Amino acid sequence: MFARALRFKCVLRSIRKKRSPAFHRETSGDPLKELPLSKVYQLLEPGPVVLLTTANKGRANVMTMSWHMMVDFEPPLVACVVSSGDYSFTALQATGECVIAIPALPLAEKVVGIGNCSGRKVDKFATFGLTPKPAEKVEPPLIEECFANLECSVTDRRLVEKYNLFILEVLKAWIDPSQKHPKTIHHHGFGRFVIDGRIIRLKSKMR
Ligand SMILES: Cc1cc2nc3c(=O)[nH]c(=O)nc-3n(C[C@H](O)[C@H](O)[C@H](O)COP(=O)(O)O)c2cc1C
Repeated sequence: MFARALRFKCVLRSIRKKRSPAFHRETSGDPLKELPLSKVYQLLEPGPVVLLTTANKGRANVMTMSWHMMVDFEPPLVACVVSSGDYSFTALQATGECVIAIPALPLAEKVVGIGNCSGRKVDKFATFGLTPKPAEKVEPPLIEECFANLECSVTDRRLVEKYNLFILEVLKAWIDPSQKHPKTIHHHGFGRFVIDGRIIRLKSKMR
């Protein structure tokens, strides 16, 4: 009986040892390096950096946004996180409308500039030399210099309070056919971007 209890204790101790942080430290010769959790988004951030326009009480504004993802095909639904500190957040909450404008590489420097100042103090369309164009279904303007513009309305606010996450429905989509092979830019954090690369085609049943 005593021997069985002792064996049980030994097994338990060896399991605990394997699970303990000391076990992980023993493998420090491993080439893997721990990545701070604060940097995880830099690996997973999916789509291109976009511009989000809003209009509140007749005043148009634009911000830079990279935290967005597709949620459904048709009607297209897009989830996006707009910080409650952003002037754009107030407009989006108040009006429920925005335009997602997709810039290509030549606009990269402006895109970063737009993401580093606030519409509270700056008329960003004038400051960055962007041309607002009337949209068809929403009040916020399209951006003429962008190769695609998506007119959106907020369709679900259930996660706004918790995560500042809006679900947008794309009501109307525009592309500029004169921009032939637009190269999108993708955010890697703190001023680092990857430029959209070469297209490869593979057999796939997925759309
Ligand atoms: C590359 C880049 C990506 C950004 N992505 C987001 C984002 O996804 N969500 C967000 O709330 N702010 C994001 N920002 C920050 C806003 O663009 C920034 O706070 C901006 O000043 C807000 O403008 P506003 O106060 O006129 O709304 C990003 C900034 C940069 C430079």
